[in-house]
Amino acid sequence: MPLRQLVPAKVRACFPALQRSDFIFFDNAAGAQIPQQVLDAVTHHLLECNVQRGGRYQKSREVDAAIAQARESVALLLNANHPDEVAFGMNATSFIRLVSLAIGLTLRPRNQIVVTDMDHEANIAAWLALQSNGAIFRWWRMREDGKLHVEDLEPLLGPRTRVVALPAASNAIGSIVDVASVSKAVHRFGGEVFVDCVHYAPHGIIDVQALGCDYLVCSGYKIFSPHMGFLWGRRELLKKLPAFREDFIPDEPPGKIEAGTFIYENVAGMDAAVRYIEQLGRDLTEESANGSRRNNLLAGMSAIRNYEEMLSLDFLRLLRDSGAQVYGITDEHRLSERVPTFLFNLPGVSPERLTDTMAAAGIGVRDGHMYSPRLMQRLGLPYPEGAVRASLVHYNTKEEIARFGQVLAAITPDA
Ligand SMILES: Cc1ncc(COP(=O)(O)O)c(C=O)c1O
Repeated sequence: MPLRQLVPAKVRACFPALQRSDFIFFDNAAGAQIPQQVLDAVTHHLLECNVQRGGRYQKSREVDAAIAQARESVALLLNANHPDEVAFGMNATSFIRLVSLAIGLTLRPRNQIVVTDMDHEANIAAWLALQSNGAIFRWWRMREDGKLHVEDLEPLLGPRTRVVALPAASNAIGSIVDVASVSKAVHRFGGEVFVDCVHYAPHGIIDVQALGCDYLVCSGYKIFSPHMGFLWGRRELLKKLPAFREDFIPDEPPGKIEAGTFIYENVAGMDAAVRYIEQLGRDLTEESANGSRRNNLLAGMSAIRNYEEMLSLDFLRLLRDSGAQVYGITDEHRLSERVPTFLFNLPGVSPERLTDTMAAAGIGVRDGHMYSPRLMQRLGLPYPEGAVRASLVHYNTKEEIARFGQVLAAITPDA
């Protein structure tokens, strides 16, 4: 489909927070800014229908409709078979634990779980907690090149493999994982694939059919929505999942995995966030192209991906020229294997001082272990100091990278 290039100024004009100051948001992996239409959707919800769902009166029906609409939008974002495969909740961590608790109840005779040393700790700890249920763990370790290789996973699989839990992309070093190949390998043994898509989601196309996975979790607040999370699972698996629910809740997805009330206005915001990406795609697509919602999402995400690769190239060159040690993929020919999330250290400068200096210059980056302490250990980094992470999204610009570079260049080694 012919696609025009994303225009940074136009994108930035959609995000009110970017207009309020010249602060540089380079900590997007911890949460992104929201477009005006998301803000409007949240405000609309709070003003017009801030009531409980399931009532017979009009405002309550509007809440039901807003949730149904959001489910449809998120299902489109993921290319899910059915909106009922999408559940809304507080965040990704609570969903990972919800699924792990349920799987922990049904571990026999398949009790082997594969976890990686590249994940956010949420997608490790929730599985390791199943030790008391009799789970046996296999560690899929990252190689020196900053990648998880499927050849290294294959020997860990067998007829007792129950789940392989993996990231779609690392929240610390930005490497993308080949989830589709993982799914093929795991399914040969009848196991299930649980994908933490939190970090990948704002950066590229998600297609659960093409990925072939069984569960996938996301945090809306990383994808230009307010704080919330969602879980997708194959309908037949969600139906079987022994999740906690009150007796009066039918044993059917999505209700059975949405314990209690979630934050409806933020779900309305998530719906608007999906529509924002669609609009981006629609605006960048030639008139002749087919304008289905999914096609617009594909166009929006492709434009984001193309633009972010340019940012990655600039950022990696800047880090290289400044003498920084970069962890993860640095090869300019392998930018398609990463998202614009960079973990690095400047020789002789503590991560803490570097981020303090950036903060004083109006630039938000993060230091520490990035909630991936095992990855830090794998990289030989001290705990908890770790390293510095700059995580960019499609509203960041080359000019911001240049300003970051000027501040970096002026930093002298620690006394
Ligand atoms: C890759 C990844 N997984 C899981 C989480 C936890 O997400 P949440 O805060 O929605 O529980 C994060 C948060 O930063 C993350 O980056």
